[in-house]
Amino acid sequence: MTTNERQEQRPTTAGHQRFNCRNLSDLKALCQTLALDLPLETQMRELGQPLALGRHQLANRLAIQPMEGCDGEPDGRPSDLTRRRYQRFASGSAALIWVEATAVVHEGRANPRQLMLNETTLPEFSRLVQMIRSESKQPVYLVLQLTHSGRYSRPDQDPAPQVAALNPLLDRPGLIPHVLTDDELADLVPAYVRSAELAETAGFDAVDIKACHGYLLNELLGARTRTGAYGGSFEQRTKLLLDIVTAVRAAVAIDLAGRLNAYDEIPRPYGWGVRADDHHQPDRDELLQLVGQLTRRGVVLLNVTAGNPYYNPHVNRPFDAGPYRPPVHPLVHLNQLLLAAREVRRHVPEAVVMASGLSWTRHLGGHLAAGLIKAGWADLAGFGRQAFAYPQFSRDLLAGEVDPDRCCIACGKCSEIMRDGGQAGCVIRDAQVYLPIYRSGRTGKPPLTSQVIREHV
Ligand SMILES: Cc1cc2nc3c(=O)[nH]c(=O)nc-3n(C[C@H](O)[C@H](O)[C@H](O)COP(=O)(O)O)c2cc1C
Repeated sequence: MTTNERQEQRPTTAGHQRFNCRNLSDLKALCQTLALDLPLETQMRELGQPLALGRHQLANRLAIQPMEGCDGEPDGRPSDLTRRRYQRFASGSAALIWVEATAVVHEGRANPRQLMLNETTLPEFSRLVQMIRSESKQPVYLVLQLTHSGRYSRPDQDPAPQVAALNPLLDRPGLIPHVLTDDELADLVPAYVRSAELAETAGFDAVDIKACHGYLLNELLGARTRTGAYGGSFEQRTKLLLDIVTAVRAAVAIDLAGRLNAYDEIPRPYGWGVRADDHHQPDRDELLQLVGQLTRRGVVLLNVTAGNPYYNPHVNRPFDAGPYRPPVHPLVHLNQLLLAAREVRRHVPEAVVMASGLSWTRHLGGHLAAGLIKAGWADLAGFGRQAFAYPQFSRDLLAGEVDPDRCCIACGKCSEIMRDGGQAGCVIRDAQVYLPIYRSGRTGKPPLTSQVIREHV
């Protein structure tokens, strides 16, 4: 049994701490203290290696994660602020930009400003693609994330949850969710196909059939309590995702990607990818079966993530400050995310695998990213919050000139803006635009704290 396999089985007791590493030696020492075997490289050479993806060749191993800005126009087209975000992303040197969650139907929008792709908004999506390509220093591979927000749908501001199954851990008191019928779920297949066709017309290289972070297709994966065609057995819980992938493959000449939860860290019978006796421990059996089926159906790119930002955000985005004090050290959670990517990559070596959650490592993220690539844990290193804070991070990293004073500090404020219903970006490093938005959203609300322990996580 390897060190990392032992780590997966052993409950950790290392408590939460803020990032406190000045240099690579400090990060190595922290790994040693926490008994983590994370691959860390001194040199950034690996990050400059090209990579074949679908019919394309990526210039390097750096990617920008999908980051929702909640700043689209009411009809779902990108706004000036959306374009500004992507212009900033394009000013770096990441070879791949994964464009944020974009709704396939109005009822599935997570907020009234979530992007939505349809015939009306298509011209503005085409303009966005052209702008990103013309601003980028090199050819950039563009993925569009297609989503239905399921239980987190708020298309017209008020919550209007559409769920795969009732879940006492997540159902909001006093709000009766609509459990989608089998017919309503089946009707989503043509909606995804239509969005994928439009994405291809707009000039994207790939579409991601999003199945993560508690949104509809992720919730279905864990819907053991659901009856009918889309719940219960593994085959039925994965049916809608696989049906959509198959239908898109048959209809549209575009690469297929999947942002997939490796585990929800939500107790069974509701959580996906977790052990029945301990939801803090991953169970990979179903995950690996699923990624095998996805790649056999033509998915060429897998972006491995975990958790649910509404329930246990520290699992998906290790942070220094958040709505509660997490029970374990952020690096332990990051390690879990990266181990999941490694397992997926080992199981489907034919797919390109992207790792998540690296922003907590700030100016040292490049050492971890290069280590992951060299050790074969992932093919691409994705950065999310870091890209909000420091869009040229990838360019500076490749040039060996990362500026610690421009890095993300994992303060949780970009997530907080989202929770407050504002437009998301970096409050610290892009303060001129986002500090006023943050302040206005915070008016009358309790401060963000890392001291409150929420028991259920
Ligand atoms: C403000 C905000 C918006 C996000 N929007 C999306 C999204 O649209 N789609 C998605 O799959 N993940 C989304 N995420 C999750 C990120 O892609 C990423 O997985 C997470 O931030 C951890 O990576 P990092 O440590 O590099 O930030 C979002 C995260 C934040 C903080």
